[in-house]
Amino acid sequence: MERDWTPDELAHAGPEHLDPGFVSRFDRKQGHPDPAGDLDLLRSHGLSADSVVVDLGAGTGQFAVPAARAFGRVVAVEVSPAMRDVLRERAAAEGLATLECVRGGFLTYEHSGPPADAVFTRHALHQLPDFWKVLALHRIAGMLRPGGILRIHDLVYDVPAQRIEEFVESWLEDAPEDPATGYTREDLAEHIRTEHSTFRWLLEPMLTATGFEIADASFRGSVYASYTCVRR
Ligand SMILES: C[S@@+](CC[C@H](N)C(=O)[O-])C[C@H]1O[C@@H](n2cnc3c(N)ncnc32)[C@H](O)[C@@H]1O
Repeated sequence: MERDWTPDELAHAGPEHLDPGFVSRFDRKQGHPDPAGDLDLLRSHGLSADSVVVDLGAGTGQFAVPAARAFGRVVAVEVSPAMRDVLRERAAAEGLATLECVRGGFLTYEHSGPPADAVFTRHALHQLPDFWKVLALHRIAGMLRPGGILRIHDLVYDVPAQRIEEFVESWLEDAPEDPATGYTREDLAEHIRTEHSTFRWLLEPMLTATGFEIADASFRGSVYASYTCVRR
């Protein structure tokens, strides 16, 4: 899909994700989300030790590594060389034959082999503006078998347009203060200014238009969204 009108994913990956210093502190900053809930959810949709899972924007492998212990083939796709270095080191240390680390992104990863049973993506889709989210979701639908699962975690505003300013102010006010162990007010303000988190009432029609049925959507604090979607 690389044409003269497609963006350079690396240039839009978020400068911090390309910075080896930031990447070395990334796990501590974002915490260690327990993968068990997502693994169980995928199992509840029929995934097993033979299944194929693609993790788009896999970062340091916080989900891809445990997923590779549970499923038959896990492709960890990452656009940032610094993230990929950590991912590869971790994959080598684990010695998991089921884990593949691949260079690419939402708009460039070319899936090969049997179609994916699930695509997982956490806190990465917001790197793309809405036009490109639609193309990314369309591409994801093309990687999945019919009935396959798209599991998304991301920052999505579950807020009506009339309340957005009030919501943003209260979100920023409650942000943690230590940048080493969380996303501070400054981090969140930068996210709003420079990244492309969208509204729930825009994302959901995008999912439907690209061939997904939304099986479940849950929100924490009107912004931390988790979606389970079934590829029609
Ligand atoms: C906040 S990190 C999340 C990493 C991982 N998913 C996790 O939850 O630990 C966002 C990741 O998305 C990656 N990313 C940025 N732009 C991307 C793109 N166009 N396609 C795929 N991944 C991208 C970044 O390099 C970064 O590793």
